Amino acid sequence: MEAEANKQKEIMERLKLRIAGRSEKLGRPLTYCSLCFGCQMNAKDSEKLEGILETIGYVRTDSEDADFLIMNTCTVRENANLRVYGRLGQLKKYKKNNPDMLIALCGCMMQESLVVEKIKQSYPHVDIIFGTHNVFKLAELIEKKLDSKGMVIDIWEGTDEIVEDLPSDRKYDFKCGVNIMYGCNNFCSYCIVPYVRGRERSRKPEDILAEIKQLVADGVVEIMLLGQNVNSYGKTLEEPISFARLLEQVEEVEGLQRIRFMTSHPKDLSDELIRVMARSKKICNHLHLPMQSGSTKVLTDMNRHYTKEDYLTLVDKIRTAIPDISLTTDIIVGFPTETEKDFEDTLDVVKRVRFDSAFTFIYSKRTGTPAAKMEFQATGEEIKARFDRLLKEIQNIAKDTCGRDQGKIMEVLVEGLDEQDASLLTGRLSNNLLVHFPGAPELIGSFQRVKLTEAKGFYYIGELVS
Ligand code: 5AD
Ligand code: SF4
Repeated sequence: MEAEANKQKEIMERLKLRIAGRSEKLGRPLTYCSLCFGCQMNAKDSEKLEGILETIGYVRTDSEDADFLIMNTCTVRENANLRVYGRLGQLKKYKKNNPDMLIALCGCMMQESLVVEKIKQSYPHVDIIFGTHNVFKLAELIEKKLDSKGMVIDIWEGTDEIVEDLPSDRKYDFKCGVNIMYGCNNFCSYCIVPYVRGRERSRKPEDILAEIKQLVADGVVEIMLLGQNVNSYGKTLEEPISFARLLEQVEEVEGLQRIRFMTSHPKDLSDELIRVMARSKKICNHLHLPMQSGSTKVLTDMNRHYTKEDYLTLVDKIRTAIPDISLTTDIIVGFPTETEKDFEDTLDVVKRVRFDSAFTFIYSKRTGTPAAKMEFQATGEEIKARFDRLLKEIQNIAKDTCGRDQGKIMEVLVEGLDEQDASLLTGRLSNNLLVHFPGAPELIGSFQRVKLTEAKGFYYIGELVS
């Protein structure tokens, strides 16, 4: 899709002149504010959007009172949508003061036709709407908006196109996400992602490797391979390849030091992958393995294709091969068919596996998914009480599991200043836990040996070891 990338680059050149002209007239740079909700995929897409905006001459600001505001939305749970509508209401006043302000919406929520209808009706101050499949077109859509009146709307149902080689404004110099596949084919019955991100498409290994080599040449030492279900990577390529084999190739990239990946579906996690992880020197000591529920009945209703026992067996297999691996998970509480007994199965798995941490969610009904038609077996209050019980259990366990390395000296990648206390640095262990320790900002982006002096639940306090 080189032709498409070139077309977009030409448009960017034209916009650069227009924005420079406008900026000269105003006697100040034009600013952009980029808001991103949701998962790592969206974060990655936002870096691409920001790359385009920077290229055409906008300067970043954190203030929403900007000349260009873009909101990359998430729709995985209902409250994500509500937050967007709330924000949109507030933006009206900025636009009143600055009528040339442009407001763009993109991301998963825009792939739902009801949402777009609602925005057309109730939020006419929005200028540009696009979806998850055409992020690369931002410059073209801005140009179209500048040349026309009314809302510019461009939503694609799906795509086979993967447009590469456009600018990206990376959040960190030393670590970066790399898409290895787009979309999802699993259709878990509660999940809207397959409807808004389309069918599974894998990038070719040579394109992925070329991107990683370029990133490493630019100073990146840690990459996160991104996909909704990385374990099924490569199955639909003309020359099929497994995710494990891709990891082996990525491992060979000289200068790259850490490899992470997100997300793994338990049903597709192969023995080959466990072997590769156990052997690897670069793959981090962490696996995020969403279980969603511990009840075989609920898992069946969720269309997850594994049982409680399958999940426990898989965890055993992983821990036998990689004994000190950190395991994290996602759990949904209050799926429609979940009864008290089913919830107890979830608690049972949590107690047996002893996760390092878990993201817990109350089930949120997503219109159009099969689960939206299922009847609830519990009341809202019962579900909330289950959620609190689960959270307590997870926190109790995490206190022990996360603290197991207290007193050890371990390597951290220094990521930045501590948000609360700027005299401290924040670094990340291979197992994904954070460590806060005194040190100079020059160390940001480097690997350091740190003694983990005090376990604090989900993080450590440490000190540099010279
Ligand atoms: N309700 C609640 N949680 C959900 N997730 C996905 N869809 C829903 C939903 N409808 C959670 C799953 C998934 C994580 C990213 O979000 O746990 O792993
Ligand atoms: Fe949603 Fe399931 Fe696909 Fe994850 S694997 S994105 S939960 S459908």
